[in-house]
Amino acid sequence: MKHQTEIEKRRTFGIISHPDAGKTTLTEKLLLFGGAIQTAGAVKNNKIKKTATSDFMEIEKQRGISVATSVMAFKYNGKQINILDTPGHKDFAEDTYRTLTAVDSVILVIDCANGVEAQTEKLMEVCRMRNTPVIVFINKMDREGKDPFDLLDEIESKLNIKVRPLAWPIGMGDRFKGVYNIYDENLNLFSANKTKISDEVVSFDDLNNPELDELIGEEPAEELRSELDLINGVYDDFDPETYLSGEVAPVFFGSAVNNFGVKELLDAFVRISPSPRGRETDVKKVEPNDNKFSGFVFKIHANLDPKHRDRIAFLRIVSGKFERNTFYQHIRLGKKLKFPNPTSFMAQDKSVVDEAFPGDVVGLYDSGNFKIGDTLTEGEVMNFVGIPSFAPEIFQELQNLDPMKSKQLDKGIKQLMDEGVAQLFIQQPGNRKIVGTVGQLQFDVILHRLTHEYGAKCSFTPKNYHTACWITSDDEAKLKDFMRAKTGNIAEDKDGNLVFLAETPFLLQMAERDYPDITFHKTSEFK
Ligand code: G4P
Repeated sequence: MKHQTEIEKRRTFGIISHPDAGKTTLTEKLLLFGGAIQTAGAVKNNKIKKTATSDFMEIEKQRGISVATSVMAFKYNGKQINILDTPGHKDFAEDTYRTLTAVDSVILVIDCANGVEAQTEKLMEVCRMRNTPVIVFINKMDREGKDPFDLLDEIESKLNIKVRPLAWPIGMGDRFKGVYNIYDENLNLFSANKTKISDEVVSFDDLNNPELDELIGEEPAEELRSELDLINGVYDDFDPETYLSGEVAPVFFGSAVNNFGVKELLDAFVRISPSPRGRETDVKKVEPNDNKFSGFVFKIHANLDPKHRDRIAFLRIVSGKFERNTFYQHIRLGKKLKFPNPTSFMAQDKSVVDEAFPGDVVGLYDSGNFKIGDTLTEGEVMNFVGIPSFAPEIFQELQNLDPMKSKQLDKGIKQLMDEGVAQLFIQQPGNRKIVGTVGQLQFDVILHRLTHEYGAKCSFTPKNYHTACWITSDDEAKLKDFMRAKTGNIAEDKDGNLVFLAETPFLLQMAERDYPDITFHKTSEFK
């Protein structure tokens, strides 16, 4: 019974956005409402402002800060809320994709002036693959932006999801007067307020009440009435089930920096968002209320101190109860491990936990046992699925500059790949190491760490590939033909799966057309 109560209390989610839409600001305000921090400004900005030119100190700082803010837990309205941080910088997108496998829902922040941006589309694609429930928060309403109806249309068409406004803005920019909460039938009047949590909320179950005209003016009141009529005519009533199945995204409006609309968002989130959900394994679906403990590693973080190669593996608990100092089965290695100091995170603080429940994330100190995607159980042999690698976008060949140091290089690159910093493809002849990433910055991080942490001497040469696709075929002979014809473009990934490296989208299309018996997969997970 206690176990069930613990599960139902938990809400584990991620906030995603295109950089600068307001993810950090919103996170901070949520922590403020949750009492996890006392003043605004406490969540450090973990953004890297520079792109190609590498400032290593900044990279190091990023690594340090993101450990501290990887999971932010707080209590609100009787719920235990776990926010999993997702790096905003696009070069770390793959880290974000993987974190999304560990959440049960997301809040998507959109800048009202910029609408749906490139990074938003990519992140939402990953959410759509898993039918993750999404709540949209349209931010920066204190600035002039696009028309709210146009924004909703843009979200529907670009993100391939239906929307349902649960709040509606009254004006924007200088004329921004507040937000009408459609769900609770009340009006929240706007006042620019960056630090305090105080809102002036007036209930309106009858919008024809002339008090509305007095509060916001006759014209805006009329406009609000007709827009709400339109909304109720155009959009179906909100059905929480369609939100939970990932078909419909409820939409809220506000201004995170002014603390405005954030409480409405949080209250609605707590009311409608899902408690921890089950996860598929290669054997069966595991439900949170299964008695036996199970979980998977979705993120690995290297320790800041290069002298100790300790790492922290982040484990999402899927079922049962995780307990400190108890032996669990590491399925891939086939051995039992126990953890004397599992760590939980609370805003900026870390503390040792004795037990943790489904939906929770614990940090496990690791000396090299874990890879991303690893499963831990009480003994049952099964592996969680759905933590794929995604096709990288930039490729460079790693060259060893000192034959005396090849051991250091091999060890270093293996460990960095286990952490999921990038993907390694081996090309024949000569075991050539092609490293694939989603951003240039990763190459700087890899070189820096191989040199400073592992003592290797190496360099990268750019390769002219555009994407990597995993290839399979039911017809062994056809696959061999293809590999013969494309020798220079074939490689193997870390698990020995065959990969086709294409120089341009056109060449990939040609290959797909010319070899219909070969299937080209965009992620490493296929059956
Ligand atoms: P991100 O994590 O999504 O990248 O965005 P972040 O929260 O860092 O916000 C990006 C910028 O947008 C910040 O300004 C932030 O203050 C501003 N911002 C966030 N919410 C609102 C809002 O509701 N209204 C307005 N007008 N601005 C908002 P900055 O100048 O980049 O940084 P800062 O020096 O102000 O912190």
